[in-house]
Amino acid sequence: MKNELIVTTEKFVRSELGEDATGHDWYHVDRVRRNALHICKKEMTGDPFIIEIAALLHDIPDEKLNESVAAGRAKLSSYFQTIALPEKDRNHITEIIESISYKGGKRTALLSVEAKIVQDADRLDAIGAIGIARAFAYGGKKGQLIYDPSIAVREEMTVEEYRKGKSTSIHHFYEKLLKLKDLMNTNTAKKLAVSRQQMMAEFLEQFYQEWDGQDL
Ligand code: ADP
Ligand code: NI
Repeated sequence: MKNELIVTTEKFVRSELGEDATGHDWYHVDRVRRNALHICKKEMTGDPFIIEIAALLHDIPDEKLNESVAAGRAKLSSYFQTIALPEKDRNHITEIIESISYKGGKRTALLSVEAKIVQDADRLDAIGAIGIARAFAYGGKKGQLIYDPSIAVREEMTVEEYRKGKSTSIHHFYEKLLKLKDLMNTNTAKKLAVSRQQMMAEFLEQFYQEWDGQDL
């Protein structure tokens, strides 16, 4: 039964996000699911079924991938109408998904251990080599520059500024990606974040060297 729900949910997510070119494609979702189940096993806590379904659905209502916040919510709730999932689980999964988004660093209280695990899993996929690739894919698709040294880095910003303000993909490292290591909830994710953080730091160092022609 549970297995069937997972397979049905995988199919739904593949059909919704499969072709997304902003780094929120099916393979992102699949990595988040795998990361989340790994953390759950290592930490020996959380309900693996809730974690897996929440990980699979976590980007479905994302406002970036929908017309509006309301349209995203509607997409998730209409999917729930098509499957036999107890209301308690449905509410828990919805709450997890709504609470884990970064939104410019504004912290929302995470209500459950499952939410903490899915958030860490999603954040692990935003850093390291994969994180670098995703940031430039997102930036390209949204039409922003790779880098523009004349734009100031925004340390503090509202959700609106975070989504709409002028920025570049290199700026996104300072606005979000480099901060994630210290925001991890679980020890397992904290450990995994160390080498991924190192990778981003080395990448940025080399990037500026080449930008300034210091290696010529
Ligand atoms: P959340 O949905 O948790 O708020 P984001 O909106 O930051 O997270 O989006 C998730 C991923 O999309 C990021 O990890 C990053 O790879 C990419 N992304 C989002 N905003 C930008 C941006 N301005 N520049 C480059 N990449 C971005
Ligand atoms: Ni995600």
